[in-house]
Amino acid sequence: MINQDPVSLVVLTGILVLGAVVGRKFASTGSPLPPSNLRCEYLTNPLGVDVRLPRFYWVPNHEGRGQTQSAYRIIVATSPDAARGVVWDSGKTKSDRFTHIVYAGQPLVGGSTYYWKVRWWDKDGSAGPWSRIQSFDTGLFEQSDWKGIWIGGANQLRKEFSIEGEITRARAYICGLGYYELRINGRKVGMKVLDPGWTTYDKRVLYAVYDIGPYLKAGVNAAGVLLGHGWFKERALLLQIVIETADGKKLVVAGNKSWKVKNGPITEDSIYNGETYDARLEMKGWDSPGFKTPGWKAAEAVEGPKGVRSAQMMPPIQIVDSLVPVKMNLPQPGVFVFDLGQNVSGWALLRVAGPSGTTVKMRFAELVYADGMINQENLRSARAEDVYILKGEGEEVYEPRFTYHGFRYVEVTGYPGVPTAETIRGRVVHSAVRQIGSFVSSNPALNGLQKNITWGQKTNLHSVPTDCAQRDERMGWLGDAQGTAEEALYNFDMAAFYTNFLRDIRDVQDEKGQITDTVPHLWGFRPADPAWGTAYPLLAWYMYQYYGDTRILEEHYDGLKRYIGFLNGKAENGLVRYSYYGDWVAVEKTPGEIVSSFYHYYDVKILADIASILGKDAEAKEYAGQAEEVKKAFHAAYFDPKTKGYANNTQTANALALFLELAPGDARGSAWQNLFEDVAYKHDSHLTTGIIGTKYIMEVLTKFGNSDLAYDLAAQKTYPSWGYMIENGATTLWELWQKREGPSMNSHNHPMFGSVGSWLYKALAGINLDPSSVGFEKIKIEPRMVRDLTHAAGSVETLRGRVVCSWSHSSNRVTLESIVPVGSEAEIVIPKFKLRNVVLREGETLIWRARAAADAVPGLKSIAENASALTIKAGSGRYVFCLAGE
Ligand code: BGC
Repeated sequence: MINQDPVSLVVLTGILVLGAVVGRKFASTGSPLPPSNLRCEYLTNPLGVDVRLPRFYWVPNHEGRGQTQSAYRIIVATSPDAARGVVWDSGKTKSDRFTHIVYAGQPLVGGSTYYWKVRWWDKDGSAGPWSRIQSFDTGLFEQSDWKGIWIGGANQLRKEFSIEGEITRARAYICGLGYYELRINGRKVGMKVLDPGWTTYDKRVLYAVYDIGPYLKAGVNAAGVLLGHGWFKERALLLQIVIETADGKKLVVAGNKSWKVKNGPITEDSIYNGETYDARLEMKGWDSPGFKTPGWKAAEAVEGPKGVRSAQMMPPIQIVDSLVPVKMNLPQPGVFVFDLGQNVSGWALLRVAGPSGTTVKMRFAELVYADGMINQENLRSARAEDVYILKGEGEEVYEPRFTYHGFRYVEVTGYPGVPTAETIRGRVVHSAVRQIGSFVSSNPALNGLQKNITWGQKTNLHSVPTDCAQRDERMGWLGDAQGTAEEALYNFDMAAFYTNFLRDIRDVQDEKGQITDTVPHLWGFRPADPAWGTAYPLLAWYMYQYYGDTRILEEHYDGLKRYIGFLNGKAENGLVRYSYYGDWVAVEKTPGEIVSSFYHYYDVKILADIASILGKDAEAKEYAGQAEEVKKAFHAAYFDPKTKGYANNTQTANALALFLELAPGDARGSAWQNLFEDVAYKHDSHLTTGIIGTKYIMEVLTKFGNSDLAYDLAAQKTYPSWGYMIENGATTLWELWQKREGPSMNSHNHPMFGSVGSWLYKALAGINLDPSSVGFEKIKIEPRMVRDLTHAAGSVETLRGRVVCSWSHSSNRVTLESIVPVGSEAEIVIPKFKLRNVVLREGETLIWRARAAADAVPGLKSIAENASALTIKAGSGRYVFCLAGE
């Protein structure tokens, strides 16, 4: 039975709270273990940190339960053992904090390497061992630290230089636009591809720092750089190599006109269209010393972009995976179609042998026609085609450098002979953010959904969060970014990525405070749709909520104020009504203006909260007051007394009014009733929402005690639903609920409907931020045991450590395993499901309804029972609860 009445639930949870405090007298056993996951500015041993006061992070580990950190000591030094050249020794510092610890030593010097280690003391005063030694490299702090000039003139550039003496440290600082590949002495340096990240080049360019020591030798060395167009469209290189030797000398090799340039085998490269590589034009040894350069000319000084040079402080784009095709078909003579079985972003690695001049063409597609031929219609103008022309020297291996495609199928034509199982590998390429979350359940449909969400999300992280991976777009559409952000935050380590992207957003802001729909922005100009622009306040807010990052709030406060000031200027009678996309790609349209007004309220409210966190009390009050005004205006403008719902009474309109509690008193009940009836009866448990409504409807159904219905939507298999996509072969999420495969707008890898991903973690795995804290310092574990679901499990590697909830139930028991990290506290709500007269054990110990044993469990702080659940407060540790009843 669907519970229709939100009020009854409120009543139920209010009664019968039989609080019982379980003794705290237990000292936890075990000792502190070395801290793990040590990071600087959210990154592991980063090269190129151009923040002068970087922040440090670690995860304290402990064998015992109920543990917190009472003190730490951190040492930063210039020697690799972190013993000599100490620039900061915090001493034993009393603090329970182990995230965002701000450097407080001597001024850091740009272009240097620092080493650090940390240890911590537990709540009982026992010290843990020192961590392993970590390092970070500062970037070039001053623009004047750059010695070279922007050069170009061709797509291959080279320079020889000689090193005398023993190399003690060697770094390359490089920004090659649009994309570069750095090579030293015949080898590619590092693992980055499609580097640097895309920015608004006239505002900012990103440079990478490499440790090139392992590539160099005494004597003559050669550096080579390949340049591609990328998003820059032109080609320009800024490079500086700095080599320190044992005799204290410093050799600087900078980009200038003494470099030699020539066009190489890459004869065409374009992100959308693909790459053409003529291997006959290869010049063997061009990137090694001793190469003769007739036909090469001097590098030209080119006008580089005007933007400031910033270190790239986020996970780079890399080849993250290599897939073996699951099938090869021959739909026509000479046409081989490989199926990776998965929609990905990246390219194909090709193995081929044949006569010189043989031209092999690879074309990429998400779809195939019934006859097995690839269908590229939905790529619009993107040609998505890589061409390799053989040199004819035995087995040749090719993969492109300066393009990428969104695809599942690779069509190979012109292949000399018959391809084998080794011919093609699918290279999965995206920003190498770490996957930190997992979700599984007893319902395969949800597991399939989780799989499609994570594939869709990661393959759309290409230094900016993109809308799609395949057609002539792939841009940082803000609506898509904000809608999927919470899902991304549960599944991936987004801290450094979003820190960078927020700065990207600020970079497009103009003097009026306006921002654009896409970041970076390419197509014309108009101020962002408010549902898109809200990515600016929302991402900043999520960074604070999920990671406890206050520096982000400080850095963006002015930008956010200017953005909201701009929105306020657009308001008519207190409401922002302009809208272009609104509840984009909905089944039933909702007027765009209610969506814009909703986000105007949301943005002002967030700004008020940020102002208050930053101690700007007067502004906090002012914005909070404004938010109240918008709230009233919203209800007055959109509540329809006839339907007793909002705007045109769609699922989205009512979900928006309910999500932020914009509906007062009675209107709340009627809007809920309308929403419920619309979903459950009128649409037989189907969504009619677009990308905006979809995110909030799931949350609202759960908030109003109807997770069963939200679950029906998530597990639905008929149109429109996520399951319908899967039933129709989707391996990532589609852009549209409808099945379309023609030339119209219908990407088959669009992450935006993946917003449901955070709901899977929150509602089903039960892992929630507790609103009374940030960054998972307090955690609310509250799984909803819905319908026929007998098991769900989620695990999230938060900044403070791993949080786990895994539950299952049978007819007479509920088991719940939970992990709470050191320094965190969880409120764990174990639903009684249908059980009566329950008893609860933790491990072997009876802890509820058996007073003698109740305080026998370390880590637990209290237990309370009400009609529907047992609520336990617990400190850190792993717990296995078993609730048994009649
Ligand atoms: C993109 C979207 C984007 C939208 C704006 C589309 O072309 O692919 O995902 O948000 O335009 O309405």
